[in-house]
Amino acid sequence: MNSIAVTGIGELVTCDGTGPDLLGIRSNAALVVEDDMIVWIGSATEAPAADARIDIAGRAIVPGFVDSHSHLIFAGDRATEFAARMTGQPYDGGGIAITVAATRAATDDELTRLLAGRIDELRALGTTTIEIKSGYGLTVADELRTLQIAARFTTETTFLGAHVVPAGYSNDRAGYVDLVTGPMLRAAAPYARWIDVFCEPHAPHAFDADEARTVLTAGAEAGLGLRMHGNQLGPGPGVRLAVELGAASVDHCTYLDDGDVDALAAAAEDTVATLLPGVEFCTRSPYPDAARLLAAGASIALATDCNPGTCYSSSMPWVISLAVRELGLTPAQALLAATAGSAKSLRRNDIGRLVLGNRADLAVLEAPSYLHLAYRPGVPIARTLDVGLTGQRANNRPSVLS
Ligand code: NIG
Ligand code: FE
Repeated sequence: MNSIAVTGIGELVTCDGTGPDLLGIRSNAALVVEDDMIVWIGSATEAPAADARIDIAGRAIVPGFVDSHSHLIFAGDRATEFAARMTGQPYDGGGIAITVAATRAATDDELTRLLAGRIDELRALGTTTIEIKSGYGLTVADELRTLQIAARFTTETTFLGAHVVPAGYSNDRAGYVDLVTGPMLRAAAPYARWIDVFCEPHAPHAFDADEARTVLTAGAEAGLGLRMHGNQLGPGPGVRLAVELGAASVDHCTYLDDGDVDALAAAAEDTVATLLPGVEFCTRSPYPDAARLLAAGASIALATDCNPGTCYSSSMPWVISLAVRELGLTPAQALLAATAGSAKSLRRNDIGRLVLGNRADLAVLEAPSYLHLAYRPGVPIARTLDVGLTGQRANNRPSVLS
């Protein structure tokens, strides 16, 4: 068994729910890891012997970020669509068809290489768990192969056949829902942990409440956990449907009325409101009111939504800084939402908090305090600290996430 001690931690932010701001901060701390698991946490002066040691010289450590919402497997980009949006074009999901065409045309090798590159990128920014959705294939074969490739990189894979109604089905929406809930779901389910649907009456190709209910109910019957894109482009039925069906997460939550906030507060143990402020930034939309959700008692998470349309960024530190600047969160609330909160949205207890028995998923900051995540926007101060093997191999492990 390999053990490794991480010493010289100026500020260890465990996010364990104790102490001021619930951050469980320890000074001059050390931790010991065995086989990717935290087996000891305490004062550096009392650290037990270990096979290897990494001294991080007074830097801060936070839990590796949990990016619980991404569309990371795709080909092509939509930079011109982004540029048009910056001059006033609204986002309505129509550009998804461009990415579907590029993704269908790409080989498995190309998609694998593109995905691996994006995963290297986000690991370099401190993310240790990534959820990856399909949704740019929209045929049985293309949804299957994109999920198969994604499943090589993460256990948090999500079947999003109900992303939009593809071109060939625009006059047969019911036929497409039948395909998604029948052959496509049967092919996808072995490679997916979750099912998601873009429930959005304001986007012409997305799904209404009845269609979304049909999709999620079929997914639940196939053994998948439920997630939803809801209330992104305007007020709508998504949040309340997600809560009613016991979804683990309803994502975006940009437009919420009092009833939505009350529903999320009442369901705080089961359904997390996952906020994606990079999307509002990149689509010039109003930001969700995170402080209102927290005041009501709802559970929140933060994620990137990294995708070629609404937010082509894989940076959780940037999302944290946006959440502090634009969503009304304190730096502590934002960090908790990006770690323990996102873990909760994936129904995971083994990540997002640095406690005994949890995975040793660590992000080290080129800074003395977690406050710098919001204080130094756009500066890459966070990176994943790899303690899975030995000190010599630190930061050199292949891109396999939890
Ligand atoms: O979460 N809203 C739906 N899906 C993505 C965007 C996908 C795209 O535009 O390519 C989102 O914003
Ligand atoms: Fe999304």
